[in-house]
Amino acid sequence: MPTPRLLQLHDTSGTDLAAEAASGLLRPQAAVSPKFFYDAQGSRLFDAITELTEYYPTRTEAAILAASGPAIAQAVRRCTGDHPVIVDLGAGNCAKGVGLFPLLAPRRYIAVDISANYVAAALAHLQREHPALDLVGVGLDFSSRLAMPPDLVGPQALVFYPGSSIGNFDRSGALALLRQVRDLSAGGALLIGVDLVKATAVLEAAYDDALGVTAAFNLNLLRHLNTLLGANFDVRQWRHVALFNRVESRIEMHLEARKAQVVEWPGGERRFAAGERIHTENSYKWTKDGFGDLLREAGFGAPQLWTDARDWFGLFLASG
Ligand code: AVI
Repeated sequence: MPTPRLLQLHDTSGTDLAAEAASGLLRPQAAVSPKFFYDAQGSRLFDAITELTEYYPTRTEAAILAASGPAIAQAVRRCTGDHPVIVDLGAGNCAKGVGLFPLLAPRRYIAVDISANYVAAALAHLQREHPALDLVGVGLDFSSRLAMPPDLVGPQALVFYPGSSIGNFDRSGALALLRQVRDLSAGGALLIGVDLVKATAVLEAAYDDALGVTAAFNLNLLRHLNTLLGANFDVRQWRHVALFNRVESRIEMHLEARKAQVVEWPGGERRFAAGERIHTENSYKWTKDGFGDLLREAGFGAPQLWTDARDWFGLFLASG
């Protein structure tokens, strides 16, 4: 039985990450990239978020795939041919990507995540269930640049980017990533999950749930910074804030200082006034037309779209 190949395509030593986090804290309006949510505890908290009553995206996307899977697969095959190579961006535990196997019978599955170690265990387990399948784990921070050895992906691949993670990029960042995805798919297709604009109350509840799981996910970032930077954030002195900014069409998450304080780390410090915020995440919500336009601007043809009955979430298939 073959074993999954693992390729680490960027440095995960943590030194660059620490410098990046520190410079974000020192900006006049402190801001830290959402990638700092995902230490081991943050990843577990995110998994818990996806189970929350208020957090509809994960289950809505799954329901669309369950209802329209055969039609989506037929449309995908028209772009990629039979037995495509699937490139799963942000694969994590690979569960969503594996959901495509019965529909598409891929010849190769490439699971991309920030660290190849994140996908290693899931791929080893998968190999036992699919002994003939070519499995590859790629460690890559594709928020910086999406580039892989050309012979790994080949022509007419299916790039799968579920979960509305594209929403964590602003318009120009999303456009830059989609252009790279188009190059990578090389005449194949992109299947992408996108959270759609809806009532403010629904959106804000999804990012500020009654159990406080999203608050814990946001606050855990401070603990991660304590580890990464050697900082001394006192998590109890911060509170979670989530609001829908309708002008920018995005949920914003912030951490707000409960009182004035100084936070220190080796080589730096930052004074925060009471009520001052650290901006930790944007989650952009798109209209159907707006995302279609973005895909066209990235060089794709007119997309096909599947949604749920409430039009809360969209699965776009784009090729070209
Ligand atoms: C990963 N990403 C798509 C999630 C989102 O909805 O923007 C992250 C998240 N943040 C808070 N809840 C979920």
